[in-house]
Amino acid sequence: MHRFLDLADFSREEITGLIDLANRLERHPEPHALAGRILGLVFFNPSLRTLASFQAGMARLGGTSFVITPGQGTWQLETRLGAVMNGAAAEHVREGLPVLASYCDALGIRAFAEGRDLARDLAETQFGAMAGVIDKPLINLESAMNHPCQSLADWKTLDDLEVPRHGKFVLSWVQHPRALPLAVPAATVHMAAMRGMEVVVLRPEGYSLPPATMDKARAAAAAAGGSVRETADRDDALAGAQVLYAKEWGSTAHYGDAEGDASLRTSLGGWCVTPEWFDRAAAGCKFMHCLPVRRNVAVTDAVLDGPRSIVQREAYNRMTAQMAVLHRMLSHGV
Ligand code: CP
Repeated sequence: MHRFLDLADFSREEITGLIDLANRLERHPEPHALAGRILGLVFFNPSLRTLASFQAGMARLGGTSFVITPGQGTWQLETRLGAVMNGAAAEHVREGLPVLASYCDALGIRAFAEGRDLARDLAETQFGAMAGVIDKPLINLESAMNHPCQSLADWKTLDDLEVPRHGKFVLSWVQHPRALPLAVPAATVHMAAMRGMEVVVLRPEGYSLPPATMDKARAAAAAAGGSVRETADRDDALAGAQVLYAKEWGSTAHYGDAEGDASLRTSLGGWCVTPEWFDRAAAGCKFMHCLPVRRNVAVTDAVLDGPRSIVQREAYNRMTAQMAVLHRMLSHGV
């Protein structure tokens, strides 16, 4: 495997093969599998899980890693093509990233959406430009519209808890003080569709996922025997649901317009998950969230601390799933 950028780049069998490998490494650790291998991690945006789970996973496989947070102890890196670099950034990614790649065997990059132009973010323009200057194996640590490591961990979590392959999976918009990127909702709807689930996107008006995102998920669902639809009707969405996956994202009707988005969300305080949301769900319905999450804004303490919540398992599986990716990417020829 040379690149891990999008679950859609892989067949269903390749993804389940990675999950099988993650399970095998959990049962039978291989503490020397990646001895001598180096992973570089570049974070243009903050992280807790992605950073720590990749470093821990690499160490558990016998490899090592370094972390670069541009502008924090290193030069600030310019990402804009054609920029006149007379501002804070001392170095361009077109020089900096190939330099970093030359020091390691694989590189991971986190670069969130620019959040100004939806078409540009949907095209992964910024991440694509960075990927284009790197000749080493590359991992997407979250780009404008994708978070494949989160999705692989979530798929594994669903399998771990024996959630039926064709079960009902509700991805629900929840509250946040400001607009957040579309990467996790876009990746999640695709992951659940690719797994073969009955996927319902529950969101208020103004927060529809982009048509291209829904089309991609519908194509994955068609291939896997599942389905994908959107609704603003909570009762309809959650009836019989086996999973409620909560996520915050910005208004697609006001993309790049913070004031427009803010005016919409002022009336959406009811979009905080409470125990009552599960009244019509299946008895064992699970609560998922990729974290970080704001308590009592997106979800109440009662749900997050209750038996339905599997957020800790999801976070733990970031490490186990990524170890499979690293093993597949780097173990050959050691
Ligand atoms: N879910 C996730 O990617 O967490 P971090 O932003 O903390 O890495």
